[in-house]
Amino acid sequence: MKKDDPAAQQILDPATAHAVLSWYVEAGVDVPLSDAPQNLLALKIKEPAPVAAASSKTPSKLAASSAIPTSAALPLGSPEAKNQAIALAKAATSREELATAIQNFDGLAIKRTATQMVFCDGNPQAPIMVIGEAPGLEEDAQGKPFVGASGQLLDKMLAAIGLDRNAQDPEASVYITNVLNWRPPGNRTPSPAEIDISLPFLEKHILLIKPKLIFCLGGVAAKAVIPQGDSITRLRGHVTTWSPQIKELGDAEIPVIPSFHPSYLLRAPQNKRLAWHDLQLVLSHRTQH
Ligand code: URA
Repeated sequence: MKKDDPAAQQILDPATAHAVLSWYVEAGVDVPLSDAPQNLLALKIKEPAPVAAASSKTPSKLAASSAIPTSAALPLGSPEAKNQAIALAKAATSREELATAIQNFDGLAIKRTATQMVFCDGNPQAPIMVIGEAPGLEEDAQGKPFVGASGQLLDKMLAAIGLDRNAQDPEASVYITNVLNWRPPGNRTPSPAEIDISLPFLEKHILLIKPKLIFCLGGVAAKAVIPQGDSITRLRGHVTTWSPQIKELGDAEIPVIPSFHPSYLLRAPQNKRLAWHDLQLVLSHRTQH
């Protein structure tokens, strides 16, 4: 807006300004990108930076694999972006390297609107790996999965079967991650392309942790983990098996118990009894294996 533009000079009283901001937040507009409006469609897409310029940012091990460019912002959905994600995930030999690979990967635009990467919480030695959808507002601010309202419900659900993400004893703990490591703006549902490009990192994450059981929360996570699967309503209540779809990353067969997402249970508490049944299934599986 120009200085002499009357709209720029209009100053809202605090109550109106608060009401306008609240309305934006409720509508999902909670990420200010710029003070002035811009026609982003009219902007020219920048040429990707040369690969060499970014190699100093990559950690030693990943930088060693010179075939893997990490700086070019590849278009989401392109085979190049998927191949790069697979190559980065494949090259990671530890959780630390995987976190660095996700951090350096530039094929997922939501990385630019998120505050920080949300990689994991809990005990990496725990036999149960909990997989959610994507970070929300609180998770984005704190850099940890499931720390907002749905995380509080998840903690209560886990406590009901004697599990605590902060327990030192791996058997009493869980390890928690999400399909996406970056918050989608306004907490929107991740797009199929965003889920697909995140899959190599999620699958490598599972292969590095080697959990005895995956507890998968909500339809998005269930679809990523059980691609041939049905709706969450039909999948929940049963034990299925996970194997990586991207065979170059490795192989494994891990039991999966899908259940409702805690944020859905907050909206539909009548289904908590079904979630309780799923928790009992987790508990019986844990005691048997
Ligand atoms: N919902 C999720 O799926 N994951 C989080 O980390 C928080 C909310």
